[in-house]
Parts: sequence; structure tokens; C-alpha cells
Amino acid sequence: MLPDKTQHKSTTTAKFRKDLMALAEGLDKPTYLEVGYDVGYTLMAVSKAFHKCVGLDNNPERFKDATNLQKSIGDDAKNVMLILGTLEALQSGPYEVVFVDADHRYECVKRDWELVLEKNTASRYVVVFHDYGLVQSGIKRFIQETFDREQVSFLGEEKDWNPLGDPTNDWEAVMVELTAVAGDTDG
Ligand SMILES: C[S@@+](CC[C@H](N)C(=O)[O-])C[C@H]1O[C@@H](n2cnc3c(N)ncnc32)[C@H](O)[C@@H]1O
Repeated sequence: MLPDKTQHKSTTTAKFRKDLMALAEGLDKPTYLEVGYDVGYTLMAVSKAFHKCVGLDNNPERFKDATNLQKSIGDDAKNVMLILGTLEALQSGPYEVVFVDADHRYECVKRDWELVLEKNTASRYVVVFHDYGLVQSGIKRFIQETFDREQVSFLGEEKDWNPLGDPTNDWEAVMVELTAVAGDTDG
């Protein structure tokens, strides 16, 4: 059975999905990684912009829902690989666009960030965090403690972007760009 859209509203806006897809422009066969795909609406919607997509979610029900959604889409979502699990279990590899939208508590966001750095072998990549301006999430604190203002840029909508109604006071999403420094892996 397909996911019930009345119960599973995606909180990503059309503007945000467009912004995510734009990050693939000009890249050679880019891979997209989404951490926390839920029912898979965002993942499936942006998949057409990428060569390959990998999704992680640690909830077996969400894995089932997203698998059903992928089947219902057919060929257009063939480049998506759904994984039931967390970043801890992800194989290292190049992921040019990483979208982190899992557990929004400060410690969890910090841990996801560290794991992305550990697992991602791409020489240049971007990491996008959703729900930056959600009052009750730990993302803003993590970003402000970890980066200078000029290292980040904002994506999606600036105001009134959350259809679930939880209060927001800032942008929908934030992005950080990373470039591996040559010789950085020597230890
Ligand atoms: C806000 S929802 C994701 C929404 C989805 N990205 C979208 O745009 O529609 C968060 C999801 O993260 C999953 N999740 C929570 N902690 C996780 C973790 N450590 N690793 C992977 N997924 C996780 C939850 O099961 C849930 O489905």
C-alpha cells in the first residue's frame, strides 16, 4: 500500500527541492545521499537530477513505505538505492550532494556530520541540513557553533515554510561546501 499522504506530509518545499536539484548542475554523474528519507517524497522527487541516489532511514516502516513509493514510480526511480540503517553502516564512497534530515537533536546532527566527513570520499561536496530554522531542532546551534557565517548559505524558503505547523524563526535549510585538501588523508 502506498503511504498515506494525509499522515505523511513532507516538510520540504518545492523551492527547496529545486535548490537541491540545482546542486547537481555541471557535475559529472553526481551521487546524492539522503540521511532520513521518511516516506521518500523528497528523495524520489530530486532523483531525476542525479546519476545515482542513496537513501538511509533507520525506521523499518519508512523503508517499506519508501520501497512501495519507488515501485509505484517505476523506471524514473530506478537510480535510487534505499537502505534501512544509519550512516554508521554506510559504505564509504563519493557523495557529491548530501542531504541530512534525520534526528534533529544537536548531538545527533553533530554525529551525522562527523560520519559524513568520515565516509565521504568525494573531493568536493556539499552537505545540506534541513529544518535549520525549526525552533525546536538542534541544527541552528550546531551550525552556529561549527562554522563562520561566511561558510554557510541558505536554501529553500526563508519564512513560513513548515506545513506541519511547528514554529520556525529562520531559513528552511542550510548548506556547507567542502573541498578535500590534498594530502589531508595521511594522518
Ligand atoms: C524529518 S524525517 C525525513 C523527511 C524526508 N527527508 C523528506 O524530505 O521527506 C526524518 C526521518 O529520519 C529517520 N531517522 C531518524 N534518525 C535516523 C538516523 N540516525 N539515521 C537514519 N535515519 C534516521 C526517521 O525514521 C524519519 O523517517
